[in-house]
Amino acid sequence: ALIRKRLVIGNWKMHGARSTNATLLTGLCAGVSVVHNCDMAVCAPFPYLGQVSACLHGTGISWGSQDISKHQQGAFTGEVSADMLNDFGCQWALVGHSERRSLHGETDQLVADKAAAALSAGISPVVCVGETQAEQEAGLTHEVIQRQLQPVLALGAESLAKLVIAYEPVWAIGTGLTATPQQAQDVHAFIRAQLSGLNVPQVRILYGGSVKASNASSLFAMSDIDGALVGGASLVAEEFLRIAAS
Ligand code: G3P
Repeated sequence: ALIRKRLVIGNWKMHGARSTNATLLTGLCAGVSVVHNCDMAVCAPFPYLGQVSACLHGTGISWGSQDISKHQQGAFTGEVSADMLNDFGCQWALVGHSERRSLHGETDQLVADKAAAALSAGISPVVCVGETQAEQEAGLTHEVIQRQLQPVLALGAESLAKLVIAYEPVWAIGTGLTATPQQAQDVHAFIRAQLSGLNVPQVRILYGGSVKASNASSLFAMSDIDGALVGGASLVAEEFLRIAAS
């Protein structure tokens, strides 16, 4: 597992205001020295990326967007391109978060196209996958994940080497229900097996879904869990730092 440095990413979702962001970011900067051997990043809403970039400059904490356009430029009102994000130093872009898939109809192919657009500008996509509760209960977890990954795997080994995969079971997002470490590990191992023909052992697979300081270390103890994508608990500096310190 040492070939994969731990990575903990905060997904603020549609939360924030300049004043509360300043408090949160100042708290992260002040506490980052307790975090060792773990990359940390924050994915904020578009209007605040400049603020995040300025506050985190020089701290070692990187930042990213929560979405990205598959298009390069042109008549795409409301979209934000990879080049625009790269223009001011964006390192990460979440793609295919379950909320984008379910609320905005994003398809598996669109998610892969967005990942490709990010990569073309040197931004690392964090490709989110995960099954719904109904799919899990129907025993379809592996099938769903395989389907979601398929167009992403088609991007090829060179692209895959630069991306991150986040497994977020939809039934565990914002619900307080976490997958057990073993449940998550089983799916992570399945994802790792999907990558096995491509010789990309460095690809990090993050777990997301009600990760908190109190459950992070038991999740991180599993061999194929390389970090976390954290929603609610990333909005409080001490809690997010404790997760990264785990
Ligand atoms: O992307 C993070 C996520 O969807 C998990 O949210 O609030 O359950 O940690 P939360």
